[in-house]
Amino acid sequence: GQLRYSVPEEVPKGSFVGDVAKDLGLQMPALPDRGVRIIDRGRRQYFALHGKTGHLVTAERIDREQLCRLVEKCVLRCELIVEGEMKVYPIEVEIMDINDNAPAFKDIELEQRISETTVPGSRFPLAEAHDPDLGQNSLQSYELSGDEHFSLAVQTGPGGDQRPELVLAKPLDREEAAFHELVLRASDGGDPSRTGTARIRVTVLDANDNAPVFSQAEYTVRVPEDMPVGSTLVTVTATDPDDGLNGHVKYSLKTITVKASEIFQLDAETGEITLLRSLDFEESDSYELDVQARDGGSLSVIAKVVIAVTDVNDNAPEISVRSALSEISEDAPSGTVVALLQVQDRDSGANGEVRCSLDGSLPFRLESSQGSYYRVVTTRELDREQESEYNVTVRAADGGRPSLQSSRVLWLRVLDVNDNAPVFLQERYSARLSENNVAGALVLRVRATDSDWGENARVRYRLGEGGVRGSARSPPSPRMRGCVYR
Ligand SMILES: *[C@@H]1O[C@H](CO)[C@@H](O)[C@H](O)[C@H]1NC(C)=O
Repeated sequence: GQLRYSVPEEVPKGSFVGDVAKDLGLQMPALPDRGVRIIDRGRRQYFALHGKTGHLVTAERIDREQLCRLVEKCVLRCELIVEGEMKVYPIEVEIMDINDNAPAFKDIELEQRISETTVPGSRFPLAEAHDPDLGQNSLQSYELSGDEHFSLAVQTGPGGDQRPELVLAKPLDREEAAFHELVLRASDGGDPSRTGTARIRVTVLDANDNAPVFSQAEYTVRVPEDMPVGSTLVTVTATDPDDGLNGHVKYSLKTITVKASEIFQLDAETGEITLLRSLDFEESDSYELDVQARDGGSLSVIAKVVIAVTDVNDNAPEISVRSALSEISEDAPSGTVVALLQVQDRDSGANGEVRCSLDGSLPFRLESSQGSYYRVVTTRELDREQESEYNVTVRAADGGRPSLQSSRVLWLRVLDVNDNAPVFLQERYSARLSENNVAGALVLRVRATDSDWGENARVRYRLGEGGVRGSARSPPSPRMRGCVYR
């Protein structure tokens, strides 16, 4: 007398389960009068007897997954009691599974962190999905979409469960893509099939797989030598696409002469090369520095920095007197060399090209000699009586804009030569004398001058032979006194 029925879960209240009256051979419609009742074993009343038809029907919606969590065969038991006959009929109703649950992931957002150096083929277990339905209605397959870097492998566990794994199919590069968004889809075998998805966000962890790269292999700058101290001459830049410390670049001067290290300073963080002290084109017209860029993971690269110093007209010509006369005789012939000069300018190009000249219109001229040497020569015989000394100004100017100049004065004294005869102030002198005068009385004074100098200008007087008008007798010789100096 065991009654067995089956009914799918989730059918609406009042759905047909089995024709109890017919199966038990009970007469209808007499059932309610005979005190026929259904007694459920559980706390809840899932079934009822339909009075008119004698059908066993559902008394409420039944969820198989709630009633029989992990039990494969879900059976509910109840009894039919016929009070009039004092009989009990046990009834078993099997609850049939329907595909009312979709596979579900515990977390719908999954995080996966993978280093960019991970070799392809590496596997990373993923969270499993669960579907409480039975058999075909439960989880059947997984599927991965989103990115050619990843594929899916599914392992079968000891209990026959499916374990999805993420497989790296292509090498990762954080510098190309730091994140990968994937979708893992779990499907059951119901008809229609139901699915559940989880989003997988793969974060690619950085490895120091990039060395810094300079923006230029060689930096060339032209700097005027008068650039102020502290100025920035050039800024070198290297970039490193790695993350964090692996991408943090610091700069240093690799090989540098002691001299250059006193002149240039490199900022380790910014790559700025600044001037520590002033440049001098005449000292050095070019410097070469090797700058190294190094990341926090100690990958490094070197670039060359060429600093070309350009000339600025910062030096005036220099006149050096190598040899010079301080005295010259006034009868020295025209073309006599009175000085040998050297004129130099430390600048280069037009800034160092020198033009020399003499000031005024003196009887001297400049003659170019060998290289940077010049001679100062006379252009005619000199005349001490006209000009007894000369200040000869030599001037040198360079070709810069503006031009720088310098000058030297040569002092030259003209020495006397006895080239002038004495000259009487009057051409003739006359005097009247009374007779019988005393000897030694003053007759007259004569005077002669000489424009020469020193001994050459000293005049002595002497009486020459002369006639006395009206007498043949020679008078006592008059004495002359005095001399003239100039
Ligand atoms: C030459 O220079 C000196 C010193 O400056 C000066 O005393 C003298 O008078 C100058 N002579 C001439 C001829 O200019």
